[in-house]
Amino acid sequence: MADGGSGAASRSGPPTAWIGTSWKMTKTLAQARAFSGALVDVPWAAGLQPFVIPPATAIATVAELLPPGGPVLVGAQDAHWEDEGPWTGEVSVPQVKDAGARLLEIGHSERRAHFGETDERVNLKVQAALRHGLLPLVCVGEDAGQRAAGSAVDVVSAQVRAALDGVPDHAQVLLAYEPVWAIGASGTPAEPEDIAEVVASIVAVGQGRPVLYGGSVALDNATGLIDVAGVDGLFVGRAAWDAADFVALAEIVAQRST
Ligand code: 13P
Repeated sequence: MADGGSGAASRSGPPTAWIGTSWKMTKTLAQARAFSGALVDVPWAAGLQPFVIPPATAIATVAELLPPGGPVLVGAQDAHWEDEGPWTGEVSVPQVKDAGARLLEIGHSERRAHFGETDERVNLKVQAALRHGLLPLVCVGEDAGQRAAGSAVDVVSAQVRAALDGVPDHAQVLLAYEPVWAIGASGTPAEPEDIAEVVASIVAVGQGRPVLYGGSVALDNATGLIDVAGVDGLFVGRAAWDAADFVALAEIVAQRST
């Protein structure tokens, strides 16, 4: 498995498993503080790399409790590809890095669907993250129609290829497979057999870079999903927004993969 990245906590060697959550557009600063505080003294398994991706408003607050260089990586949910300039409402990679982020989520399907995130922009953001030493976490996934048409592998492979266009082979990038039909309250949780072939294609196109699975991951299906060949970690929304549940999911991942 590929090295997890210079942004990852430096414990003994590269991570062998990943557990992360994006809070999407949830949590006040008080809630962010409570969640992060609950993680401060967790005895994480060796080889497990936890990460938390707050909304931009809470990155600095979370990073005060979970600082760069510590065992929990803090991320940003998005950032612009330019370093600065007249882009009202946007934040840049240097800005989220300054706030304490060491990981950058890119290309989540909600951004692709609602905010015009194209494969080309995803690639620009991967390059921007790498330029500033952040670990890119690129989200890919087919929608229900594409799956029904039998084109999931082709769609996802093309997304990965586009994201990594011009990226050096040695560059550390995480890839998250999040089928659109499996995400969120209206999603249908995937069965392990639904995802195995696409995961294998991401491993191949991504040249062995770590692959995380996301989309309606929960305590009762995490074991089956982390056990899928090629899955190196889980990327969780709703089911990990409570710190105790995040830690419980981390334990499942650690038991099965470290
Ligand atoms: P849910 O786990 O809430 O389905 O969200 C998954 C996701 O989009 C993580 O980025």
